[in-house]
Amino acid sequence: PLPRPFTVPLPIPAQARPVRPGHYEVVQRQARMEIVPGTSTEVWGFDGTFPGPTFRLRRASPVTVRVRNRLPVPTSTHLHGGVTPPGSDGYPTDLVVGEGHVFRPPTGGHAHHGAAAGASGWTLHQGFRDYAYPLDQPAATLWYHDHRMDFTAPQVWRGLAGFAIVEDDEEDALPLPGGERDVPLMICDRAFAEDGSFRYPSKDPGLLESPGVEDAYMEGVEGDVILVNGAPWPVLEVSATRYRLRLLNASNARRYRLRLTPGGRFTQIGSDAGLLAAPVTHEAITIAPGERFDVVVDFSAHPVGTDVTMVNTLGSGRTRDVMRFRVARRAREDATVPARLAGSAPAGPALRPASATTRRFDFRRTGQGAGAAWTINGVPFRPGTPLARPRLGSTEVWRLTSDFHHPVHVHLAHFQVLSRNGRAPAATDGGWKDTVDVRPYETVDVLVRFEGFRGRYMMHCHNLEHEDMAMMADFEVV
Ligand code: C2O
Ligand code: CU
Repeated sequence: PLPRPFTVPLPIPAQARPVRPGHYEVVQRQARMEIVPGTSTEVWGFDGTFPGPTFRLRRASPVTVRVRNRLPVPTSTHLHGGVTPPGSDGYPTDLVVGEGHVFRPPTGGHAHHGAAAGASGWTLHQGFRDYAYPLDQPAATLWYHDHRMDFTAPQVWRGLAGFAIVEDDEEDALPLPGGERDVPLMICDRAFAEDGSFRYPSKDPGLLESPGVEDAYMEGVEGDVILVNGAPWPVLEVSATRYRLRLLNASNARRYRLRLTPGGRFTQIGSDAGLLAAPVTHEAITIAPGERFDVVVDFSAHPVGTDVTMVNTLGSGRTRDVMRFRVARRAREDATVPARLAGSAPAGPALRPASATTRRFDFRRTGQGAGAAWTINGVPFRPGTPLARPRLGSTEVWRLTSDFHHPVHVHLAHFQVLSRNGRAPAATDGGWKDTVDVRPYETVDVLVRFEGFRGRYMMHCHNLEHEDMAMMADFEVV
């Protein structure tokens, strides 16, 4: 019995508190939550919550996060969008094994599309590990999630994801909406069984032996219930003022095209990796898995009492609704969107350098039936075999091509979209990004800047089922 849309209040994830300055501890554990009213869902959450706690962090104030694993499966935690040293980046075979659990890395090949076959160099930490985040990067809406080899999709589906927001002085000086009017919105879809449990078509429900999903879900797993911050089609009462909405698509495979009805526009102030140089207004925003859009919506455009619904025009029936804002009262406006935002952000479309190393990465399905796999440049993920060795401090052009919708995510390095099919990028492609929505048969050129650290990183499709079916590749910054 699913709730009527727009009856469940929007939850705001709790804020993570340091155990001492610069040090956090979170526990990955099973817990029960009432997601569908009247039923109970087992989630696997950071601190037993879904979404996990929101980290509010400062630029250049390094933190360590001790992640304790009390789950029956190993985990790896990745800070998505973070400029993080390689040892803390959440590499898929760099695992934390649950307290009191044993994990034997697979040695033989899997019969079906899994990447673990041939994986070498597994690193196992028993019970917990400390991740180090220097955070030498501008204010941005980041997020964290599980990244375990072959099992990221089902483990994120069960709840292992949360926000990590980086703030800095430059952003503090801007008169943007803050406090209760700065709202992170984690949008994702899920399917539920009658008893309220999450439904996911894993081959192995225990998530220990055989990776992968039932063959019918090769293209990705979508649910028929849209959750925002873990609640189905929630409602938020707002004042008739501006709000900053940090939109994150944390779905495994679903893309959304978001609009406001009966009207309203999104003033985009930030992209994946930070604020824009200047705001850009959109009627609609297409958001692919892994992407973030930092927007301001001005609810004073509506009379008090108006219901403003955020819809997904790529959905139909129940998946067309996302959430609702109820304009409940008048209030003093204390925020504006200034004409200039971040001085360090690219002021216009990126210029294609006259000479830069250009590399091509083709995201494509290969093989048939049980031999089918999602590959990059024709090869499934081979840990420890980098497809590229960019130099630290360099800028390269990466040409991404695809046979399907593949949201391409690059760890460590942020990029600007140069062109789509040789033409100017979309209005929503601006700013520094870490994930780009590559559409079927499209050629997307991005300008990637390698800064921060040397070492082994990865790029992959952020459709999490594609990722688990080996659509990943190492690159090594040298
Ligand atoms: Cu959001 Cu490698 O992932
Ligand atoms: Cu993909």
